[in-house]
Amino acid sequence: MNDFALSPEIQAARANDYHIQPLIIGRWSPRAFSPTAVPEEDLLAVLDAAHWAPSCFNEQPWRFVVARRENDLQRMRECLVEQNRLWAGRAPVLIAVLSVPLFQQNGQPNRWHAFDAGTAWGYMALEARARNLFAHAMGGFTAAKVMELFHVPDNWTAQAIVALGYRGPADQLSKELQVREQPQPRRPLREFWQEGPFPA
Ligand SMILES: Cc1cc2nc3c(=O)[nH]c(=O)nc-3n(C[C@H](O)[C@H](O)[C@H](O)COP(=O)(O)O)c2cc1C
Repeated sequence: MNDFALSPEIQAARANDYHIQPLIIGRWSPRAFSPTAVPEEDLLAVLDAAHWAPSCFNEQPWRFVVARRENDLQRMRECLVEQNRLWAGRAPVLIAVLSVPLFQQNGQPNRWHAFDAGTAWGYMALEARARNLFAHAMGGFTAAKVMELFHVPDNWTAQAIVALGYRGPADQLSKELQVREQPQPRRPLREFWQEGPFPA
C-alpha cells in the first residue's frame, strides 16, 4: 500500500516540488471520525512507532495516556475545549501525549523534552496513516484537567491530545467544519530555510 498521496483530495491540495515519501504527503488531520474501534494490534503499533523516535541522550521523555474504554474516553473528552470536543468526541481512541521534563539519570532539566515528544507524535501520525488510520493532534485542551483526571505525576507536561481512528463521513460535522475537512496545503518551501546567517 503506497498510494497515500495519490487520492484526488491530496493531489489537489498538496502539489509538491520534490518526490518525498507519499506517506508524508498523505498524512493529514481530518475531524470526521468513524466510531469503528481501532484494532489492538494497530493501536499498539502506533505507540510502538512513536517510541522509536530519536531523543536527546535517548531519554525517551514521551509518555502516552490511552483512552479507549468509555469511562476513560469520557474523562479525556472533558479535557478538550468545546470546539474540539464537538468532533473529537466521536473518535474511538484519544491519546494524551505527555513529556517528562527532567532527565531520569540526574534529575537535571531536559530542555528537549517537548521537542522529543513532538517527534514521537510525528512518528505516531505516520504509522497511523500507514495503517489506514488517521491521527489528529489537538492543543486545545486543559492540561490541568489531564493531570487531575488521569493522576499524572506533578512535574510532567501534557503536550497534546491526539484523536485516533478511521475516517468517517464528513456530513457528521458542522457546515463550517465540513468546509475545512480537507488536507491543508503548505507555504512554499523557500520561505522556511536559508543558507548561512540571517542578514545582520
Ligand atoms: C500541536 C498541535 C496542536 C493542534 N491543535 C489543534 C486543535 O486544537 N484543534 C484542531 O482542530 N486541530 C489542531 N491541530 C491540527 C492542525 O490544525 C493541523 O495539523 C494543521 O492545520 C495542518 O493540517 P494537516 O495536519 O491536515 O496537514 C493541531 C496540530 C498540532 C501539531
